[in-house]
Amino acid sequence: MQILIINGPNLNLLGRREPGIYGTRSFDEYLPELREAFPDFTLEYFQSNHEGELIDKIHEVGFTYHGIVLNAGAYTHTSLALADALAAINTPTVEVHLSNVAAREEIRHKSLIGKNCIGSISGFKLDSYRLALHYFEGLRPKRVGFKV
Ligand code: DQA
Repeated sequence: MQILIINGPNLNLLGRREPGIYGTRSFDEYLPELREAFPDFTLEYFQSNHEGELIDKIHEVGFTYHGIVLNAGAYTHTSLALADALAAINTPTVEVHLSNVAAREEIRHKSLIGKNCIGSISGFKLDSYRLALHYFEGLRPKRVGFKV
C-alpha cells in the first residue's frame, strides 16, 4: 500500500518547537521507526509550510495512493481550501495531531478538515501517526484463501 504522510506548517521544527507540547523528537528521526513498523507499506513523507503546496500535493496523490495521514498544523483550524482539496480526492485521509487539541485553546477545538477525513487521532504525540497507520493496515487486501 502506498501511503503519504503530510505535515503542515511549523512541523519541520518538531523536536525544537515547544517540546513540552510536541515532544523532543524530530519527524525525520521518527520516520525510519514507522517504516520498520509497517514493512508492507510504501511510506512517503512530505512537509510544507505553505498552504498551496499542501493542496498541490493532495491533488497529486489523492487519486492514486491508498491513504494519506495528514497533520495540517494550524491550517486544520483555518483552511477551507485544504478542506475542499480533501473533499475533491478519492484517497481516504486520516487527520492526526500530536497534541490533544480538545484540551487546548478553544480555537484549536474546531477542525475545518475533519469532516472530509475518515477520522481523527489527537494527543498521542508522535504515536498519533502510528495509530493512524493501523487504520490503513486494516484496509489491506486479505491474504488469498483467508476466510472472514
Ligand atoms: C497540531 C495542533 C495545531 O493546533 C497546531 O497549530 C499545530 C500542531 C498538533 O499536531 O498537535 O501546528 O496540529
